[in-house]
Amino acid sequence: MCRVEKGSEKCECRKQVHWDIMGLKFLGESNKAEKLKSSGPVSRSRIKLWMIRAITTILLWTCVVQLMALGEMWGPRLLKGWPSCFSHSDLFLSAELSSVPAKVLLPPKRVYKNNGYLMVSCNGGLNQMRAAICDMVAIARYLNVTLIVPELDKTSFWNDPSEFKDIFDVDHFIASLRDEVRILKELPPRLKRRVELGMYYSLPPISWSDISYYHHQILPLLQKYKVVHLNKTDARLANNGLPLEIQKLRCRVNFNALRFTSQIEELGRRVVKFLREKGPFLVLHLRYEMDMLAFSGCTHGCNSEEAEELTRMRYAYPWWKEKVINSDMKRKEGLCPLTPEETALVLSAMGIDHNVQIYIAAGEIYGGQRRMAALTDSFPNVVRKETLLESSDLKLFQNHSSQMAALDYLVSLESDIFVPTYDGNMAKVVEGHRRFLGFKKTILLNRGLLVGLIDQYNSGSLSWDEFSSNVKEVHADLMGNPKRRVVIPDKPKEEDYFYANPHECLQLLDEPLRST
Ligand SMILES: *[C@@H]1O[C@H](CO)[C@@H](O)[C@H](O)[C@H]1NC(C)=O
Ligand SMILES: *[C@@H]1O[C@H](CO)[C@@H](O)[C@H](O)[C@H]1NC(C)=O
Ligand SMILES: *[C@@H]1O[C@H](CO)[C@@H](O)[C@H](O)[C@H]1NC(C)=O
Repeated sequence: MCRVEKGSEKCECRKQVHWDIMGLKFLGESNKAEKLKSSGPVSRSRIKLWMIRAITTILLWTCVVQLMALGEMWGPRLLKGWPSCFSHSDLFLSAELSSVPAKVLLPPKRVYKNNGYLMVSCNGGLNQMRAAICDMVAIARYLNVTLIVPELDKTSFWNDPSEFKDIFDVDHFIASLRDEVRILKELPPRLKRRVELGMYYSLPPISWSDISYYHHQILPLLQKYKVVHLNKTDARLANNGLPLEIQKLRCRVNFNALRFTSQIEELGRRVVKFLREKGPFLVLHLRYEMDMLAFSGCTHGCNSEEAEELTRMRYAYPWWKEKVINSDMKRKEGLCPLTPEETALVLSAMGIDHNVQIYIAAGEIYGGQRRMAALTDSFPNVVRKETLLESSDLKLFQNHSSQMAALDYLVSLESDIFVPTYDGNMAKVVEGHRRFLGFKKTILLNRGLLVGLIDQYNSGSLSWDEFSSNVKEVHADLMGNPKRRVVIPDKPKEEDYFYANPHECLQLLDEPLRST
């Protein structure tokens, strides 16, 4: 019953109704029995009637006792009226199905004086929003406010209409953080009306701020207006210089509270199973997609029509501010994603087995099969989700780029080697998550050095062996191994990104951390 009706308050009522109905059913049966037996001799029927009453009473009491036992288990939560349904029904189910391991009881709710309500609208692609959600939970926790489940960006380049609940398990998100912060699916009605009347405060918080900015600038607004809406969320919390408990909470949200929907998880498991059946696999986050190229202005390897098309697109999008771009210079500075041709050379030079399965975690590759040829010639076992799954499996995900990205995220986490060709948000967040999972190998390409080596090899000034040993040497220490995040006091923007290496939360190996 609970599973169908997900609203928690409604659920509790329905549970009550359910039990009441059961009680009534027993009463009803006993009445029927009374009527049936009334035709017999008076004394016998009386005795029978008493027996039936006794049995009914015993049955009813059994029911009540059971209810109370359940009540003890659920009681504190039912009383507070806040927990999610899904935990109840899971408890219920796991008690019944002995094969399912018993669910760990949730920690008690944190009780605190609420300073107001925080609404947030995330901006950017899935992984930028993922990191932002972690930041927003931490901010809400340390301001003692109630967080409303974040709204996701539907207007970015990705144009994905998915809501939070379409991508993440929203009930798990709320319930698993209940000992830190209260999270609601929506504002209480009274406040909703205030918001409809415009009685709230909306602003983009200053980026790269530390928590004291939120204490001194945002908290007073929350106290004054009751509801504050943060309408931009990228990089809204600095990477370093935050109390350890904030860093740990960011990790807890990222690695525990944010779980994809069961539908996405299930599909992810299937993709990984297909890959595993055939052996080890490498995930290549080949960020060679049209938006990336248009935005970055990187046209190396494109023909003139393509270069023109990409430039036109950049001018058409108002939020891509930089319009005039020198592609060659940008590439030499290491600011361009590697092309499929460059990637094929680098993977070969690193000594990656040519028969390994390479799963492409990306949308459509710009230039399609023609541009992929160099890669598929060197590595024939290139696969994509579209080749591993039936189109019917992916149908629900079509036009939902964030859900596709979520699938790629899961496969990337599981891979034996993860290679991003650009250090975008997905690359960084997956890198950090793989560190958390035990420093799984992530090859962090030094693109600035690589393009120089590639050009030397292509022009003949480096032999293959020289090229290969250089590539290996450059990356010997760039495999996602334990190290400290780079801290640059007073330059939060230039520091290493927290989510790429949340070293405060990692199981460190015996050797002391090396600082970079
Ligand atoms: C938040 O609540 C805690 C107690 O749970 C209290 O110690 C702290 O000062 C409060 N902070 C704010 C900003 O209200
Ligand atoms: C955020 O809110 C401010 C103030 O209301 C507004 O000027 C700005 O355009 C908003 N930004 C976005 C991205 O909606
Ligand atoms: C996806 O969108 C395109 C056009 O935007 C449309 O033609 C197509 O039918 C959509 N696919 C699904 C599965 O909704």
